[in-house]
Amino acid sequence: MYPLTRLRRLRQSKELRQLVRETSLSPSDFIAPLFVVHGEGIRQEICSMPGQYRLSVDNLVLECAELARLGVSGVMLFGIPEHKDATGSEAYDDHGGIVQQAIRAIKAALPELIVVADICMCEYTDHGHCGIIHGHEVANDETLEYLSRQAVSFARAGADMVAPSDMMDGRILNMRRALDEAGFSQMPIMSYAAKFASAFYGPFRDAADSAPSFGDRRAYQMDPANGREALREIEADIDEGADIVMVKPALPYLDVIKEASLRYDLPIAAYQVSGEYAMIKAAAANGWIDGDRIILESLLSIKRAGAKIIMTYFAAEAARLLHQG
Ligand code: PBG
Repeated sequence: MYPLTRLRRLRQSKELRQLVRETSLSPSDFIAPLFVVHGEGIRQEICSMPGQYRLSVDNLVLECAELARLGVSGVMLFGIPEHKDATGSEAYDDHGGIVQQAIRAIKAALPELIVVADICMCEYTDHGHCGIIHGHEVANDETLEYLSRQAVSFARAGADMVAPSDMMDGRILNMRRALDEAGFSQMPIMSYAAKFASAFYGPFRDAADSAPSFGDRRAYQMDPANGREALREIEADIDEGADIVMVKPALPYLDVIKEASLRYDLPIAAYQVSGEYAMIKAAAANGWIDGDRIILESLLSIKRAGAKIIMTYFAAEAARLLHQG
């Protein structure tokens, strides 16, 4: 008790603060989400996400080379297909699929960069929902087959990891079996286990042109009010064979990250989503906040809460800041 205890003693100098610092960030904690489009020479900025681009495969490989040079562990690919249809057929097209092409090109140029492929139907369906529609409902069990086909197709293209983001029940078990049967028993699954029905995904849906054409995603993504249910989702995915579980969005759900990291001993990932990125960028552009410091503080807080892996659009920027010290 004060005056015996003085917590300021260890804050006196930069060196002491460094010595007792509990959490540190490294570029290797980061995975950069990237958007890939058909075509050549395309580098089209996303309005609501300044500094993020829709990239054709040639430019995507250049971006990946820079991320690898900065020490970022990997990239997470989102594809924008040539055409969308009711069953999202480009999602599992081995040759025509844009993500499949991107995976092959990145792995050929940069074999050591981890390529994670997001698994979901919403970018590929003409209705923008995350599965197969019957009436106005996403048909859970039928959707599983499509998701698993997509996972196997990305595995065949050479992905290092698949990351289902659809929130159907039973997708991990279905996908694990499909991957094993196709000879990919070593393919890790990073599950978007606790994915909330969040308004923070707004800019992403502009970027991927994936906003649902009717209704919303509340019948499959989680209610933001439910922290305990998030733990049930995580546990279900662990039981079904997930290797890594993710919480998404990140900053508004640090309580869920924390609880998951205390309860479960597999790696926890968190996704700092498009809206989190856009808010920081917009305020920084207005001079209302110190963008560089807030980028690092937000990422550090996500890590302190218990996430080992962070999906972040700031991956390159944060890595550069960390290298500058
Ligand atoms: C696909 C998917 C989404 C995001 C990641 N995967 C969109 C959504 O669920 O609407 C959002 C990522 C972000 O906002 O950065 N289902």
